[in-house]
Amino acid sequence: MDKAMSGVSSKPADVNISNISIQVVSAQGKLPGRRPQRKPIGKSRPKKQIKKKAPFWNVQSKILLLTVFLFILAITAWTLLWLYINKTESKDAFYFVGMFRITNIEFHPEYRQKESREFLTVAQTVQQVVNLVYTTSAFSKFYKQSVVADVSNSSKGGLLIHFWVVFVMPHAKGHIFCEDCVAAVLKDSIQTNIINRTSVGSLQGLAVDMDSVVLNAGLRSDYSSTIGSDKGCSRHFYADHLSRCYPLEISATSGRLMCHFKLVALVGHLIRLSIESVQIEADNCVMDSLAIYDSLLPIHSTVLYRICEPTRTLLSFVSTNNLMLLTFKAPQIRRLSGIRAYFEVIPEQKCENNVLVKEITGFEGKISSPYYPSYYPPKSKCTWKFQTPLSTLGIALKFHNYSIAKKSVKGCEHGWWEINEHMYCGSYVDHQTIFRVPSHLVHIQLQCSSKLSDKPLLVEYGSYNISQPCPVGSFRCSSGLCIPQAQRCDGVNDCFDESDELFCVTLKPACNASSFRQHDPLVCDGFRDCEDGQDEQNCTQSIPCNNRTFKCGNDICFRKQSAKCDGAVDCPDGSDEAGCSCGGSWPALLRVTGGADTQEGAWPWQVSLHFLGSAYCGASVISREWLLSAAHCFHGNRLSDPTPWTAHLGMYVQGNAKFTSPVKRIVVHEYYNSQTFDYDIALLQLSVAWPDTLKQLIQPICIPPAGQKVHSGERCWVTGWGRRHEADNKGSPVLQQAEVELFDQTVCVSTYGIITSRMLCAGVLSGKRDACRGDSGGPLSCRRKSDGKWILAGIVSWGHGCGRPNFPGVYTRVSNFVPWIHKYVPSLL
Ligand code: ARG
Repeated sequence: MDKAMSGVSSKPADVNISNISIQVVSAQGKLPGRRPQRKPIGKSRPKKQIKKKAPFWNVQSKILLLTVFLFILAITAWTLLWLYINKTESKDAFYFVGMFRITNIEFHPEYRQKESREFLTVAQTVQQVVNLVYTTSAFSKFYKQSVVADVSNSSKGGLLIHFWVVFVMPHAKGHIFCEDCVAAVLKDSIQTNIINRTSVGSLQGLAVDMDSVVLNAGLRSDYSSTIGSDKGCSRHFYADHLSRCYPLEISATSGRLMCHFKLVALVGHLIRLSIESVQIEADNCVMDSLAIYDSLLPIHSTVLYRICEPTRTLLSFVSTNNLMLLTFKAPQIRRLSGIRAYFEVIPEQKCENNVLVKEITGFEGKISSPYYPSYYPPKSKCTWKFQTPLSTLGIALKFHNYSIAKKSVKGCEHGWWEINEHMYCGSYVDHQTIFRVPSHLVHIQLQCSSKLSDKPLLVEYGSYNISQPCPVGSFRCSSGLCIPQAQRCDGVNDCFDESDELFCVTLKPACNASSFRQHDPLVCDGFRDCEDGQDEQNCTQSIPCNNRTFKCGNDICFRKQSAKCDGAVDCPDGSDEAGCSCGGSWPALLRVTGGADTQEGAWPWQVSLHFLGSAYCGASVISREWLLSAAHCFHGNRLSDPTPWTAHLGMYVQGNAKFTSPVKRIVVHEYYNSQTFDYDIALLQLSVAWPDTLKQLIQPICIPPAGQKVHSGERCWVTGWGRRHEADNKGSPVLQQAEVELFDQTVCVSTYGIITSRMLCAGVLSGKRDACRGDSGGPLSCRRKSDGKWILAGIVSWGHGCGRPNFPGVYTRVSNFVPWIHKYVPSLL
């Protein structure tokens, strides 16, 4: 493969660009060896006088010496200055990687051989063309060279050329190098004939398909490992056998792996890559990554998928042509790193189906996304035409872990669905949903809407009675499911969207003196369990030791469980403060929109998350190295990268944290929906765990038991440094707190409409006390009545404005994510 360099063409003398470093060349000229000429002074003197030595230190020689000295000084200073300027203006190499299709040259297998005459001839021609394009462009001063890395065949005919273009320019001018501008130069150089109406044009005499041109910014390390001498564990595979599995395996326990596996299949076929296991350091692909490309070079716009964390579940991906590139990067291996995978050559599949549905209502068949069970590739499409035998029967679609909703102004993230000319967007959820189309002729089209390959979809279909979608005696959930009437209002979320538990009239037992027997454990236990306080009146006896009191090591019973883990030693033996792992049970000492300053140290799990040095979101400490926050804080390319984030712990006044740590990893919930804010939860792993010495100031909050709702009467606070009013333009310098009440889900649904079972609402009817911008990701902390511990009931997620009457704040319901949290933080169990 090193031979690829033989196809390098460059503008000036060949330079090994892969290793460009700061080099300062100073043309240091020598000082002219001039000697000060002594001028004859007057006439020649008499011998006697000549013999007498002329005084060396006379005024003229002094002046002359001084002049020479100053001259040397000036030259030295100038040279130093010149050196300095040159050094600061260090040069950088910029790498671009791309491909295009030459339409009028026929492919021969020889092109696969880098040392073949055929390859070298095409490589040279292409390089000359690219040289010409850039040396006559605005970038000519910086253009260094182009290198053809691969020539392959394409199902559209002709040759597919993969190449690198290298520019060298002063670092300071790097910003003029926009990716689109460099690509536009190449695209604009293709002259097409408008009359012909074809995308093929002439690029300096080469017939190039305009639509095939891709040119993206690339990495120096990829340049070196794909064409340079540093090719590490790179390999090239040519697969011409259908129904054969080609294994791909690589692993190491130390050192580094920078591998490129280029896979080429028979033309007209596709590649299915199946990944059995990946062992890498999970860091959001900052250092370690496995990337799958739809081309032979790491061109980022052709990426099909990126795996950033270890996995043992079988994942498979399909290319859109006969090429695929797999890059595995692990630059600093500490434990076993590697992959186990195989690939196959598969035929291209047309996804068009006509389905005649039977008369019997119910689900009778399955449809799936293209290339199921593989991830379906970007731009892929599928169409289904359904027909039922009677006009009274419509089509029901049961989606597995997926749901579709009317397309809004925003684009779709996980699949466009066109159903009888109406547009819908798909999203992944953790349950089934049923979508019914009340028509006996249904035309459906699914199109991949994401830039990357998307998760495979499985949909059951069948007919249903349009006039009665659910059988008699059953209830129709908003998720489309039908459940037996008896399961409605039974306290269990059978519909998965809680629609069966909304609008239920629940009778709460009346609270009066007769509700309590004298020895009821709730009576005289130091807690007000009854609205009117009946249970704590007339208490004369000493408090018995029961499960609501706390027993110190020496058998003394403390009145309140809340003495435990409140940070103050109440038991003489200190046993009340032993083994306190989370949610220390001290009361909210004092009390965001409508809030008040907290007391320093009152919310020791509160975290401020800074993005590029500025406060951006909140979070909560749940263990020594894990924080819980909102997924929407990390949405988008820049925000999802952990590198610019720092977590500030044990902080009261913004900027004065007792402990800060960079963020090593961000885990956004896989079903997070940026349009509805459903599954708005993310875990953050700190690069440095907070030390034991700070446990007085930093403490984790408890995660609620799975599925547990906040009990009525429990008090909850929202905290954060966010804005204090909707109209404010900056956050609060001091941590704020506001006591909020939990809203009935029914009331919240009637206000907002789309409230899923992953959300809960809290605030006050008058508005006034609420979270606001900047509080996102922060905690909704509720004090459990039974043991006084602080529980993370919610995560600040969204709301209509801030503190508006009747519009409560919406929080992520943490109790619905307990297994998900434990998957990443098993130490919490
Ligand atoms: N999404 C907001 C943030 O970025 C939080 C909004 C909470 N709004 C509310 N009214 N409770 O900080």
